Amino acid sequence: MKDELLIQEALLAREQAYCPYSEFAVGAALLTGSGKIYHGCNVENASYSVANCAERTAIFKAVSEGEKEFVAIAVVGGKKGTPPVDYTYPCGVCRQVMAEFGDPKEFRILVAKSATDYKEYVLKDLLPESFALL
Ligand code: THU
Repeated sequence: MKDELLIQEALLAREQAYCPYSEFAVGAALLTGSGKIYHGCNVENASYSVANCAERTAIFKAVSEGEKEFVAIAVVGGKKGTPPVDYTYPCGVCRQVMAEFGDPKEFRILVAKSATDYKEYVLKDLLPESFALL
């Protein structure tokens, strides 16, 4: 799958963001080894710390459906109702969740403003020397 297509999926996922408190809407699209794409959006809560990020929503959806091999994730974010103007990087918690399942040198993270304007990393770039037990 082309990077541009995965980013388009993240932009679609972003439309479902539930972010009435921050008004910062994030979308993620996760490509699995089996070729499926899982969408994720941020889901906030009146008790603010309960919010779930778009990336974790996508990963948890996939794992709950039996997927554990991940190839890439695209992430887009910005003020709700307007197109992204900056790159939105995964938070530290989401990076740690990615490290549970993604190969540090292989799992790709696409941080995008649009389908054609994006930066590409592997997990090791964003979370070097990560903690793991397995
Ligand atoms: N957020 C994400 O969903 N992913 C990120 O990579 C960064 C932050 C969400 C959490 C919260 O709902 C909102 O963005 C503002 O922090």
